[in-house]
Parts: sequence; C-alpha cells; structure tokens
Amino acid sequence: MQNNTISFRVQPGGTLRGEARVPGDKSISHRSIMLGALAEGTTCVTGFLEAEDCLATMNAFRAMGVDIEGPQDGQVCIRGVGLHGLRAPKEPLYLGNSGTSMRLLCGLLAGQHFDSVLTGDVSLSRRPMKRVTEPLRTMGAVVETTEAGTAPLKIRGSTKLRGIHYDMPVASAQVKSCLLLAGLYAAGRTCVREPAPTRDHTERMLAGFSYPVVREGDTVCVQPDGRLVACDIDVPGDISSAAFFMVGAAIGEDADVTLRHVGVNPTRTGVLDILRLMGADIQVVDVREMGGEPVADIRIRSSRLRGIEIPQELVPLAIDEFPVLFVAAACAEGETRLTGAEELRVKESDRIQVMADGLQALGIDAQPTPDGMIVRGGKLSGGKVNSHGDHRIAMAFSVAALRAAGLIEIDDCANVNTSFPSFVELARDMGLNISVIFGEIL
Ligand code: S3P
Repeated sequence: MQNNTISFRVQPGGTLRGEARVPGDKSISHRSIMLGALAEGTTCVTGFLEAEDCLATMNAFRAMGVDIEGPQDGQVCIRGVGLHGLRAPKEPLYLGNSGTSMRLLCGLLAGQHFDSVLTGDVSLSRRPMKRVTEPLRTMGAVVETTEAGTAPLKIRGSTKLRGIHYDMPVASAQVKSCLLLAGLYAAGRTCVREPAPTRDHTERMLAGFSYPVVREGDTVCVQPDGRLVACDIDVPGDISSAAFFMVGAAIGEDADVTLRHVGVNPTRTGVLDILRLMGADIQVVDVREMGGEPVADIRIRSSRLRGIEIPQELVPLAIDEFPVLFVAAACAEGETRLTGAEELRVKESDRIQVMADGLQALGIDAQPTPDGMIVRGGKLSGGKVNSHGDHRIAMAFSVAALRAAGLIEIDDCANVNTSFPSFVELARDMGLNISVIFGEIL
C-alpha cells in the first residue's frame, strides 16, 4: 500500500500580524447542503467551506440525485428535491473523516424510502455511532453497525419512524441534529433535551428554511409534514479555524491580528470566554446578523496568559478548540485544568492523549486525566510530534512554534484539508514560518 504523507516543519518564533478572513464554517456548510437538498427551490450558498469534510457531504447528496453546482470560490447552488425527493444511491456513501456527515446523514436516511450504507476512513470507522443508532432505533429505525457500534452503518429504508422525547446523555449537536432530521419524517413530535447547550446551527437553519422548530428551555422539537423553502445562505468564517490565529496572536510577541467576518454564534464562542479568562486581549467588534447567524470581526493582540480552571459549562461551547487551547495553556503562567471533557477522547483522534503526548515531547508538563488535562505552563522546546491524522492537532502544534525554542516537526498532517485547506498559506501570510514536506509511506 502506498500513502502520500504530509508533514509540517515550523521554524520557531515569528509574529502574527495583519487581517484575514478564515474559510467558511464547517458545521454551517454541511447543513447548507443537507437542508438545501431537502428544500423546494434552489438554494445558493456563499462562503461555503471547500474542504474535504463538506465535499463528502456534497458528494453524498449528488449520489442521491441532487443537482449541485459548484463549489467555485465558495459559491454553491443546490437544486432542492424536497423532503421526499432523494433517490437511492447506487453505492455506499463514503464520508471520509467527517463525523458530522455520518451522524447527521444517519438520521436523515433513516426516514427515506430506500436502503443506504455509510462508510468512512479509519478514524471515522472507529468513532462511536451508538449515540445516534440507539435513539434512532427507539424511533423505529433499522440501522446496523459493527459489533463495536461503529461504521459501516447499514440503514434500512421504508420503516415507519415515530417521534420520541429524547434526553441526551451527552451534550452533542450531532446527536441532536441527527434526531431532528429523523424527526422531519417521524409520526408525531420529536423532542431532544440537551444536558448543556450545544451548537444550534441546525435549528437556526431549519427556521431560515421556514420549517417550524420550537425551543422550550433546554429542549428543541420538530413536527413532521412541514416543507423547507429554499433560501440563500451566507456562511460566516469558522471560529474553530479562527481559534488557531487567536491563540497564535495571544501567545506570540508583538502580535496584532484581526479576523474578519467570523461566526460568533453564542453556542460556539467558548474559546473567546476561555481565552479572556486566561487574560487574552480580545476585542469583538461590529457584531452583525447574517442569515440568522451572528458575525463579527475579532482583534487579538499579544497577551500575558495565566493558567485557569476551565469552567465546565464552557466545554461544549469550545469543544473543537481544546487542542489549541492546550497550547495556550502551555504558554500561560501557572496551571490550567480542564475537566468534564471526556468527549475529546472520541474526536478525530483521542485529543487528550495525543495533545498530552505532543506537549510532553515539547518539554511541557501535561498530565492527561480521564476527562481532561492538567497543563503547567513552561518553556516549549522544539521537537517532533504526531498529529495522528487529526487536523486540529496538526494546526495547534503549528502555532505552538511561535513560542518554541526550536523547530517543530509535525507528522501526518494531510487531514488539515478536511477543514482548512488554505491553513498553511494563510498562516504564512500572517507571519508563521511553516513549510510542507511531502513524503510517501511504502
Ligand atoms: C459538530 C458538533 C460537534 C463538533 C463537530 C461538529 C456539528 O460534535 O465537535 O466538529 O457540526 O454538529 P458533537 O456534537 O459530537 O460534540
């Protein structure tokens, strides 16, 4: 077997300065394809994230007969087929590395009149799917997994779904969204209660497509038999991608970075709260509303960070930002403690273990715990780390170089393309001395 590999080599030091617009939000881009496909009429999207994960969602809908134009310069037009217009795919739908595609599609496909199979790469095939298949089964869905509860997922069509009231054991937007999408096809009302607020892009976008969604406190409900009316969508910049530059600016010398048009939905801004608690100099300006999502410009300058106890209620609101927040913690004075974040162990990699291993390789005292980490701020040395194919780990260690004493080499970085294909170029433009090494494993 031959695999192309990509490593990053990042020289120590440098200063991030300037203005940038990070690529479109990944969560919103996925949903724009899904809901656009189910709508009546044509939905045109601007700012769409042209990265592997979202392209996997796009290809899945094309394979189900949806005509999609683009992407070109972030523009996509989807000719919706209506809630009942999808066609049986001829082959299994391959979703690459994308957990969002697999979990959301699983709910949506459980309500179709045809059978389907969802597959993914090695990482996605290890990730837990029972969290969606179990509640879907109580709705009457027939979904087969491996014995371990993982993909491939074999979904039987033409089953009669019934609405349920589901009390989610984990705070997961993917589980919530999966069940709401199944709920569009279920008899009666489907309600999902979340133990803590999670990103609400599905609810906002359903409402944007004129589909009624009712929120009652911590519970969100949909009824079947509505229709989605096509609407245009402007995808804001992804705060999860912006986070690398925020931390890079906060930990670096003389840094001053402005990130334009970033999504600041309050279910996503935990990273801003955590960095502010650590003492970062962050300004959020010109907050405006674009197509149902708040957007702002974010300015960050060099700051003296201090270690903190991360408030547990912020964990789901910053769930994708912990790899880079651990880097901030490594550069802070004193100790940072994270608890209540066991979900990090089942992301694209085990982000607690992989980050602790990498930080230790760079000379930092980072102690993994079952549900978090204790990081003592210190001096980052140079060294070699492995991202284990996890895009956010690769990018987090890249910005760590801004404060390192030596060269940082990061292996297994090809999956940066799943969420942020222009990362290297943009990081270089902003002042990071990063280069890409292409190799092969035989
Ligand atoms: C996502 C939800 C989050 C997040 C993932 C994207 C989404 O996962 O980690 O990157 O688009 O709904 P969980 O909902 O499983 O926490």
